[in-house]
Amino acid sequence: MKRKIILILTALGLVFIITCRHQPNEIPTPTSSNGNGNGNGSGNVKDSVCFAEEILPLLISNCAKAGCHDATTHQEGINLTSYGNVMSTISASDLMNSVHGTGGIDIMPPANAPPALTSSQINLLQAWVNQGMLNGIDCQCNIDTNNVTFSGVIFPMFQANCLGCHTSSTPILTNYSLIKFQLDTGRLYNAINHLGGVPPMPQNSPQLSSCRIIAFNKWVNAGAPNN
Ligand code: HEC
Repeated sequence: MKRKIILILTALGLVFIITCRHQPNEIPTPTSSNGNGNGNGSGNVKDSVCFAEEILPLLISNCAKAGCHDATTHQEGINLTSYGNVMSTISASDLMNSVHGTGGIDIMPPANAPPALTSSQINLLQAWVNQGMLNGIDCQCNIDTNNVTFSGVIFPMFQANCLGCHTSSTPILTNYSLIKFQLDTGRLYNAINHLGGVPPMPQNSPQLSSCRIIAFNKWVNAGAPNN
């Protein structure tokens, strides 16, 4: 009896060790990312940050602008336009020091290149660093495309993917009426859907993921309500 218990406990222990050892190297996949989008209770970040969906758009929109850390200018040798370039041109500590303005590094983005990062954007970067700066691609889209509202889905999507540039670069897209105005010209729809006639957006970045495009188009087809 005693031996049996010991055997079972050992087996359980082994399973536990194997499971734990597996995790640090794991690239976030649809199943390992937190599907409900509610976070894990430690602030407003998820337990599995997706590089392609969440980190790259943030870096492209806020840091990889012309004259800053894009492929052409790459100030201080730092090029933040792709996973490979991020990993080969900046360390985790320089990245975090720059967004906090600590460790002798000027705060980024600099005051003359607004907007500043929000605390939830900084938390997201920190969570990605803590998770090992993984190259999460093909991540689960946390959008319920059957329930697309301006405040719940569309504006956060603009905040994450566009406003790093379009807070100061025209067209300014910082609120509903400005977005609706651009939508009525037809150019915003074409820019997001890469239909030609206007530069494809987001600039210098892959097209938004298909579930984001579906959500955006559904919202437009519903009359682009301010809901
Ligand atoms: C890295 C900076 C950057 C990001 C990110 C970005 N844009 Fe742009 N966008 C620009 C610049 C610069 C222009 C104007 C230059 C040009 O014509 O290419 C522009 C132009 C536009 C235009 C006007 C097109 C026209 O000619 O009328 C629209 C609409 C637009 N962007 C929408 C978006 C949307 C929507 C997003 C997010 C999904 C986005 N942009 C993300 C930099 C950016």
